Amino acid sequence: MKNFLFLFCFLSFSVQAQNLRIAFGSCAHQDQSLPILKQIGDLQPDYFIYLGDNIYGDTRDSAVLAGKYAQLGSNPNYQYLKSKTKVLATWDDHDYGENDAGKYYPMQNVSKSLFLRFFEEPLNSPRFEHPGIYTSYEIKRAGKKVQLILLDMRTFRSDLCLYDRQTMQKDSIFFYDLDYIPCSGSDSTFLGEQQWKWLEQQLQKKADLRIIASSTQFGHSYNGYESWNNFPSEKDRMIHLIQKSRANGVFFISGDVHYAELSELKLDGLYPLYDLTASGISQSWHFATPNVNRIQGPVMENHFGLLTIDLRKKRLISSIIDGQNTERIRRDIPWKDLRFND
Ligand SMILES: [Fe+2]
Repeated sequence: MKNFLFLFCFLSFSVQAQNLRIAFGSCAHQDQSLPILKQIGDLQPDYFIYLGDNIYGDTRDSAVLAGKYAQLGSNPNYQYLKSKTKVLATWDDHDYGENDAGKYYPMQNVSKSLFLRFFEEPLNSPRFEHPGIYTSYEIKRAGKKVQLILLDMRTFRSDLCLYDRQTMQKDSIFFYDLDYIPCSGSDSTFLGEQQWKWLEQQLQKKADLRIIASSTQFGHSYNGYESWNNFPSEKDRMIHLIQKSRANGVFFISGDVHYAELSELKLDGLYPLYDLTASGISQSWHFATPNVNRIQGPVMENHFGLLTIDLRKKRLISSIIDGQNTERIRRDIPWKDLRFND
């Protein structure tokens, strides 16, 4: 019996060691009870990545922002999540401090120090050394390496280019008011030069899989809202950077839009670029925008994302799970499908 128990424990440990599970989500209002966080905690994933709008700060008053973080910190579901997994985070506009804010937001340093303190950033972290909060992690397990790259889509972003409802025509597929048009100026930036240089170095490192976390969507088609499509030259730069560095295994995750969907970008000279959007831990929206790159979804009910990385079979299973624990989106991707044909 003892031997059987030992074998059972050994086998279950082996299965755990061969799988890496990374949950993620965004858009969680601190006034809500956030039961999705409890659900994620029950799963005990290896990591949970907050993709932004982790609280709805929306203030230039640092005491108010600090109070809203404290509110999340005292939420029992958040405390439970934190006790069951390692919580990582980047931010989006509402926790940065203001709706759709970019590099001219004057309180960004205050927001940054509150963010880093709340998420207990180690004091020797490079995040304290450079502007912005971009960062990366390397997870080594079972002889494989998985890179987590968390982008900062706020600190360096140029002003957006406004859609003028008086003078501009919109395509008939858009049944709602558009906010922004793509910016064409070459001086427009999303990531900023320093973050681009850092990302270039990240993609030169060896890794079997690279999860790139962007608070705003990357893989969808233009919809008139805020996303990588506001800066086409920056989106092209990302694609060219992946091509130039021959970086295998890139998979995007994103948030912000209050629903879930899986987008696939098919490009010449590159493997498919997937973007799994999980947005709506507590928030929801009444419609999904047109997206010609959408291959699954949308899921309009509250949910979270889950990446199950099978290190032995070399597969990435990407899922969206709703509040009833139902898997609403699932794509099982062999790693070899995320490779350049050398
Ligand atoms: Fe947002």
